[in-house]
Amino acid sequence: MRLSGVQQSNFDFMKHYKRALVTAALPYANGPVHIGHLAGCYLPADIYVRYLRACKKDVKFVCGSDEHGVPITIRAMKEGVTPQEVVDKYHNLMKESFAGMDISFDIYSRTSSAVHRETAQAFFKTLYEKDVFQLKETEQYYDESKEMFLADRYITGTCPVCGHDGAYGDQCEKCGSSLSPEQLLNPRSALSSAIPVKKVTKHWYFPLDQYEHWLREWIVEGKKDEWKSNVYGQCKSWIDNGLFPRAMTRDSNWGVPVPLPDAKGKVLYVWFDAPIGYISATKELTNMWSDYWCNDDTKLVHFIGKDNIVFHCIIFPAMLKAHGGFVLPDNVPANEFLNIEGEKVSTSRNWAVWVHEYLKDFPGQQDVMRYVLCANAPEAKDNDFTWQDFRDRNNSELVAVFGNFVNRAFVLMHKLCGGRVPPLHKELLDDADRQLIEDIRFAAVKVGESIENYKFRDGLFDVIDLARKANKYMQDKAPWTMAKTPELQAENQKLIDNCLHICLQLTANLSILINPFLPQTAMKMCGMMKVVERMLDWENAGKMELLKVGYPLKAPELLFRKIEDTEVADQVEKLRANATAPNQNNAVSMPKNTDPVTAGPAGGITVPMPKPEITIDDFVKTDLRVGTILRAEKVEKADKLLKLEIDLGYEKRTVVSGIALHFKPEDIIGQQVTVVANLAPRKLRGIESHGMILMAQNPDGKLIFVAPVPGSANGVEVR
Ligand code: 2FM
Ligand code: ZN
Repeated sequence: MRLSGVQQSNFDFMKHYKRALVTAALPYANGPVHIGHLAGCYLPADIYVRYLRACKKDVKFVCGSDEHGVPITIRAMKEGVTPQEVVDKYHNLMKESFAGMDISFDIYSRTSSAVHRETAQAFFKTLYEKDVFQLKETEQYYDESKEMFLADRYITGTCPVCGHDGAYGDQCEKCGSSLSPEQLLNPRSALSSAIPVKKVTKHWYFPLDQYEHWLREWIVEGKKDEWKSNVYGQCKSWIDNGLFPRAMTRDSNWGVPVPLPDAKGKVLYVWFDAPIGYISATKELTNMWSDYWCNDDTKLVHFIGKDNIVFHCIIFPAMLKAHGGFVLPDNVPANEFLNIEGEKVSTSRNWAVWVHEYLKDFPGQQDVMRYVLCANAPEAKDNDFTWQDFRDRNNSELVAVFGNFVNRAFVLMHKLCGGRVPPLHKELLDDADRQLIEDIRFAAVKVGESIENYKFRDGLFDVIDLARKANKYMQDKAPWTMAKTPELQAENQKLIDNCLHICLQLTANLSILINPFLPQTAMKMCGMMKVVERMLDWENAGKMELLKVGYPLKAPELLFRKIEDTEVADQVEKLRANATAPNQNNAVSMPKNTDPVTAGPAGGITVPMPKPEITIDDFVKTDLRVGTILRAEKVEKADKLLKLEIDLGYEKRTVVSGIALHFKPEDIIGQQVTVVANLAPRKLRGIESHGMILMAQNPDGKLIFVAPVPGSANGVEVR
């Protein structure tokens, strides 16, 4: 039987471990959190941790802001404020965004904390005293006008690999090549555009090459079957290409000062101090921190995005090994990237869905975004988020499958079983009942196993699949047909009881299984079932006696609401309107004239991303006509919509247009407009809209009509 096979396979994932320490990459405090961040590592980490907690494992979940490094100082220069001001602003915003999405860190710290500074300095000191570092003098690029050495992203130039003009001193974002500043053609300072000069400086290098043999054994031989293939593959290729000493210090005044007497103006390299941030955050969280870091019976798991693989799998472990006394990661489940509407996320072009804005636009809908991001998680390859898919998954999976089943089970229990959990009459169980009971047990095993193996999408799909089976079961049983008349109901009551008993126990199981993914939904369900949170313990998953017979349950609450077409259309419009075109990118990858915290263009007009090319044949399909607005009125309960009646000469049309924030209805009567006349009708807030009017933006960002030449006749074509 399939169940026993699964049960045997993998319930010992913590067998060698007493406790788990789960980390999620410390995000740079130089901008708000976007949904790509969530999908990349924070959401999977949170699902994993919530599952471990439900399994009653001893687990700590640590994270915090990465407040050092070039991204912060460049952002500060651009905004004309100090780096401290930048990190203060974004640290709080990021912390709130994570909390808003129910990412349940045990601590969200920051690398500017005193504990971190001491911890990172002590770590460096230990390596220094063990004589691990090599002190090297080299010539490095220097900006004479800014009196600064130019490492990493402070320097830009032409990529020697693909010719992209705008590659950074550490990487070309166009072709992905990892670079050093010396490799750039036509190097320029990213701070002043000055041509840099070479100047001698000294730095402490970590001899990564000396750890090559150990890394090969530990990863290439030891982790082949355990680590995800994208992670393993990247590590192997790094090791196969040979490892070299890497400078662990920088010339800068922002960062953790190098704790040596002869190191004035030097700070720790951000990738030296940031991962130590995991240790300092644990120290801040608990006096027992060393239990988590210094015992081999701790399972250390780093959740990260793919751009962080080398730092977490190669450099940080080598640092830990050199230091000694620390546990090494058991796994580093890195995700690939999430694209938005077919484009790479770009904070510089403001092509992103910002979490704090989502929380404002969709209050109380955290679980919907968690659901969509997990269902589309870029676990094995880059994946795409679209607002259309957001709506579709919500409406056709959360609302129509999961929510619908739970709602029906509750409504029918109130109607046909007096609002109480009905008894199970075992002697009357049939094959369909027995199959569904087995499906519940099977799902419980599979979902747990998927989460343990970092396959969160599979786990989530299995939960929805169980709800789908439950819907079908209910539909096939159709208990309402057994109760068409009071006499019929009396005759069939035992069968009705069985159906609803199973459906209610299944509902209780769904709350346990969905809890790591959608915690608010699980809590709402507990409220409806009047059970305490303890019922969500994973040991209860698969059980059929979770709700006591005769126990009165509450009236159902709607778990999910439908997402309207207009809501997603608004989001797509907002995304495009706030994004800048790629060629408006400035040299240092910062949003130009935009502050994503206040959202949108500030000072100067921004233009949306160019759309994909179309052919003339595509274009001529559009029927553009001159029209005149005859009537205009506000649409009820829709701030942005006006209902317009438009005279097209040959006919009059109703068009619903999202311009209400820009125009008063009475001011636009008689206005001539250009109408897309052959657009398929669509319903907006219950009103059928037949066409669309063309609008543009004036330099202040206000909408203006794309009006035909004054006096044009209605119905004339615009070509
Ligand atoms: O890529 C980033 O956003 C880095 N700030 C991640 C650091 S992870 C860890 F090492 F702290
Ligand atoms: Zn390149």
